[in-house]
Amino acid sequence: MPRKSKPGGQIRSKQRVADHGEVLTSEREVNAMLDMVAPEAARPESRFLEPACGDGNFMAEILRRKLQAVTDACQGDAKSWEKNAFVSVASIYGIDILPDNAAACRKRLMGIFDELRAAGCGKKASEKCRLAVRHVLGRNVVCGDALTMTDEAGEAIVFSEWSLVAGDQIRRADFRLEDLLRGAEMKNRPEENWKFDEEARVFLPPPVREFPPVHYLLVGTLEKS
Ligand SMILES: C[S@@+](CC[C@H](N)C(=O)[O-])C[C@H]1O[C@@H](n2cnc3c(N)ncnc32)[C@H](O)[C@@H]1O
Repeated sequence: MPRKSKPGGQIRSKQRVADHGEVLTSEREVNAMLDMVAPEAARPESRFLEPACGDGNFMAEILRRKLQAVTDACQGDAKSWEKNAFVSVASIYGIDILPDNAAACRKRLMGIFDELRAAGCGKKASEKCRLAVRHVLGRNVVCGDALTMTDEAGEAIVFSEWSLVAGDQIRRADFRLEDLLRGAEMKNRPEENWKFDEEARVFLPPPVREFPPVHYLLVGTLEKS
């Protein structure tokens, strides 16, 4: 399944279209759709999931919009830029069934982070920050099947919620995608340990795993805990 296409092209091969319905969305359509939710698309904390993300056409534009807002707000303060840019990346999630798409998507989002860091603060991001962002992208962009909600290994897809708690501390809590979607459709609380989220107006399942807060630049170390 060769993955060739002209830059900006919508079709890579007839085979990929037949096998996986891979027809990519043009930049103009992506922007027109995101313009309909413009304030949310530019808010660093707002969460987006693209369940058939391809190489990230929607995720890339959302990240650009968020990072532009971060740049405008931080006015050259590199520390503030990095923290808010981390939050921007950490709130975008994607799934694609093709491994090359998932890998290309992660690489593309990392490239946008690097490019806009240079534009936003005039410097390259600290290597610690780049490692933290790379780690989050490795968890947030999953190669898997969004219909069966399983990953390449056949395991249930689990996404991490990254929440800034105090100062620079980030708390990771892992949720099964299947539970999150079930909660979104529920009318009544199924069990006592499910919570109602007032902002999203959905029931939230208990996490399958929780981690103690760490400095956001150290999120990579959580894997070892
Ligand atoms: C129509 S393309 C859209 C790609 C991207 N969202 C865009 O707009 O440019 C559909 C994508 O879904 C992926 N896909 C197909 N079946 C899938 C499944 N069951 N789970 C996750 N991804 C799937 C394909 O590999 C392809 O990249």
